[in-house]
Amino acid sequence: MSTTTATREQWSGPLGFILAAAGSAVGLGNIWKFPYIVGENGGGAFVIVYLLCIAVIGAPVMMCEFALGRHTQRNPVGAFKALSPKSSILAHLVGLGVLLSGIFLLLFRCWGWGALLIGLGLLIIRHGWVLVGVMGVVAGFTILAFYSVVAGWTLGYVWKAISGQLAFTEVAAAKTHFGHFIQNPAWALGCHFTFMLLCVLIVYRGITAGIERWSKILMPLLVLIILALIIRSLTLPNAMVGVRFYLTPDFSKINTDSVLIALGQAFFSLSLGMGAMMTYGSYLDRKANLFTSTLSVVGLDTLIALIAGLAIFPAVFAQGFNPDAGPGLVFQVLPTVFNQIPLGAFWAFLFFVLLLIAALTSGISLLEVATAYFVDERGWPRRRAVVVVGGAIFILGSLCAISVSDWARLEWIHTGLVQIFGTTKASFFDTIDNLSSNWFLPLGGLFISLFTGWIWGTKYALDEIRHGSSNFGDVHLISLIAGLKDDPSHNASVHVVTLASLWGIFIRFISPVAVLIAFLHTIGWLG
Ligand code: PHE
Repeated sequence: MSTTTATREQWSGPLGFILAAAGSAVGLGNIWKFPYIVGENGGGAFVIVYLLCIAVIGAPVMMCEFALGRHTQRNPVGAFKALSPKSSILAHLVGLGVLLSGIFLLLFRCWGWGALLIGLGLLIIRHGWVLVGVMGVVAGFTILAFYSVVAGWTLGYVWKAISGQLAFTEVAAAKTHFGHFIQNPAWALGCHFTFMLLCVLIVYRGITAGIERWSKILMPLLVLIILALIIRSLTLPNAMVGVRFYLTPDFSKINTDSVLIALGQAFFSLSLGMGAMMTYGSYLDRKANLFTSTLSVVGLDTLIALIAGLAIFPAVFAQGFNPDAGPGLVFQVLPTVFNQIPLGAFWAFLFFVLLLIAALTSGISLLEVATAYFVDERGWPRRRAVVVVGGAIFILGSLCAISVSDWARLEWIHTGLVQIFGTTKASFFDTIDNLSSNWFLPLGGLFISLFTGWIWGTKYALDEIRHGSSNFGDVHLISLIAGLKDDPSHNASVHVVTLASLWGIFIRFISPVAVLIAFLHTIGWLG
């Protein structure tokens, strides 16, 4: 049984939708990850590469997701079900390829991987494109599992800032403190649980009363906090050294790896490739302008990522700390930095609240993908779906939380995995992170653009985008840019270059090829 479209909730207006989608996009990826990868990968030069990835691949794919979602008014699985042809040669070819690789691996006695690929190949041949939607729902589980663990740490640090436990004089002490914190079962699991509970409570209330309402409160708050932090950071003595470190382009650091990192980060940061944007798009009505919505979401996400660096690096440099602390930067270096400026505990508190808000609005979108699946496809009541899905993610996330500590209690799972798949010594946390970020998202993005470009067809997708956005498909691009779109002689009835024609080319050729190359490179089959 599935609920009918008539009873499906919708956003109350474009602002609510844009804030919710921007809330999904702006997350730990922007504030925790983006600044340190920019710092490590050539500063301003990396930013240019990242912006290119966003413009050429990120934004076009986001439009596909919005269009697919709004057209079908369904979760990712339902969306692909509704639009998939009875049989697709492309899907059969991919399935056959995977099946043959599985058989090949069995010949080499890689039993685990062989069996996995054979099973997967058969599934692809049987279910075709619908599996892309399934992968999205699965990614919702796996991403939120580790995401919520890190978000839990930020929650713990909010508390620590309030109770004055972050007054470190040296980074080494902050490091030890962080280590003890994440290895303490009560703290790690308690914070992870509380964060999941917050997500569940919001998604439980539904689209307008839950997700939209909270996005409208939390997103403006997030912007205010980040602005306050930037002002504080930039007015510290020596702040400009930090700005220079962050943004001075160093093109010698740009290589294939940094391009891949930029592309992967673009997908993760824009919440693309797993149907989060598709699901949010499915609660839209036909009046919304998908093109300007995409621009707003992409613009906000990129802006906040860029300025997060401005809040962090000047402070780090002003206090004479080492910026290459990588992932540990925010939990280890920053508390120590804050401790040295007046009212440090307050600034630390604000910073961790910022991270928490960013994580929360992303967490709810991840939870909503799987929830929407159970509501649309299985006919579950929303409340049951949220609680069951949230509970399952809590359990999976607990395994991640446990695996980064040294309890060694999950050793049996790990030994099992090593025996079956011959994997490396990565923790469960890293494995889940790697699987989601490096496999599910790029593959999802690849298939979403292939599907829109070649299976559903750019023409039908454009018909959908046209509702609410006629400039996109009907105005000559040059006339549009020149402001002459309303002049009849500049807007002939036969259009050659419109925004839509550029988008079509990106979707059919450029995005799939770029993502495929990036993907093959990441998994080590190229270069
Ligand atoms: N975009 C979020 C971030 O930057 C993460 C995310 C990925 C959220 C995929 C939803 C879907 O942190």
